[in-house]
Amino acid sequence: MFSLQDLGAPVIGAPMAGGPSTPALAAAVSNAGGLGSLAAAYRTPEDVAADIARTRTLTDRPFAVNLFVHAAVNAARPAGTGGSVPAAGSAEREAAVARYRAVLAPEAARYGIELPATDASATDGWDAKLEIVLDLDVPVVSFMFGIPPADVVEALHRRGAVVIMTATDDAEAAAADAHGADLICVQGPLAGGHRGTHAVEKTPGRRSLEALLAAVRAVTDLPLAAAGGISGPGHAAQAFTAGAQAVQVGTALLRTPESGALPEHKDSLAGGRYTETRLTRSFTGRLARGLRNGFIDRYDSLARAAFPEDGQLTAPLRARAAAAHDADGLALWAGVNFADACQEPAADIVRRLAAARR
Ligand SMILES: Cc1cc2nc3c(=O)[nH]c(=O)nc-3n(C[C@H](O)[C@H](O)[C@H](O)COP(=O)(O)O)c2cc1C
Repeated sequence: MFSLQDLGAPVIGAPMAGGPSTPALAAAVSNAGGLGSLAAAYRTPEDVAADIARTRTLTDRPFAVNLFVHAAVNAARPAGTGGSVPAAGSAEREAAVARYRAVLAPEAARYGIELPATDASATDGWDAKLEIVLDLDVPVVSFMFGIPPADVVEALHRRGAVVIMTATDDAEAAAADAHGADLICVQGPLAGGHRGTHAVEKTPGRRSLEALLAAVRAVTDLPLAAAGGISGPGHAAQAFTAGAQAVQVGTALLRTPESGALPEHKDSLAGGRYTETRLTRSFTGRLARGLRNGFIDRYDSLARAAFPEDGQLTAPLRARAAAAHDADGLALWAGVNFADACQEPAADIVRRLAAARR
């Protein structure tokens, strides 16, 4: 069974859905002594199986597969209730999605496309993907956006898999502990990509990663991986001092040769056109941090917290922007310290971060 203690380098390569996480990147991180991750979100189950098989041809070390816990399967709370998000399927929710559809209509017209029908209960192939990670004996399975159901955690444990759950505060960490997590990824405010709040509408707090780690340590004895803005050994050392057993890094790996991020994404991180990041719901309805580009400027103030529907609406727009090499229409996910991301091989980055442990 996988154990953090067995890692030569206490560094987890963050799962990065949407292209950056390739088998080559996951294997490079694992081969350097860390724990590489594959991102199952937005992939078909067949693609996930192929990614796992390919990763196994590149490394014989453990790696993780990450799944989004959509509201329909989230054991943290009933789907879509409470807060400022009207329940999935309610007339109010449908009206909110219809409003955002109208907001995006001119953008769709510009590309000559129709925005798709939305499905609030979509789970992104949850059952099929779980079957794959179980059947293929994936050693580590990590979850984002909530708590997987008890039978899922039990099934993974029966197969000997280690279960990682993501938490953005101490209450979510306590829930992860109570629901069978073996390791908690504590995601702080500087993180790139989606915030892993267990409720869609929640605005995560601004406590520093170090303060967050201390608060989480007070509610659980589980090993912790610290994530968010860790771009060099100084940040990693701070996280280890604050009680983390590992660091999880995403943005730092985006420009590596092994990363599958679009060239426009890699180039934008290198600076010039975009100078800051912004936390926005405009791409998917869930809060996520990306380089502040034209899409965010146009739609951030009009976006609503309807996930996954808003992501379904913007997906074809983002695909068109990608085809047109238009960085201004892409979700350029990035953590606050994106300027430190460099083009080095992933193994060098892992080794540099791991050195902070000594
Ligand atoms: C491009 C990108 C995609 C991401 N996709 C996922 C994902 O699919 N699953 C997940 O658990 N976290 C995802 N994250 C968040 C990371 O797990 C992690 O919390 C974050 O990268 C840490 O902050 P950093 O980017 O400053 O290192 C993503 C982050 C980025 C930058």
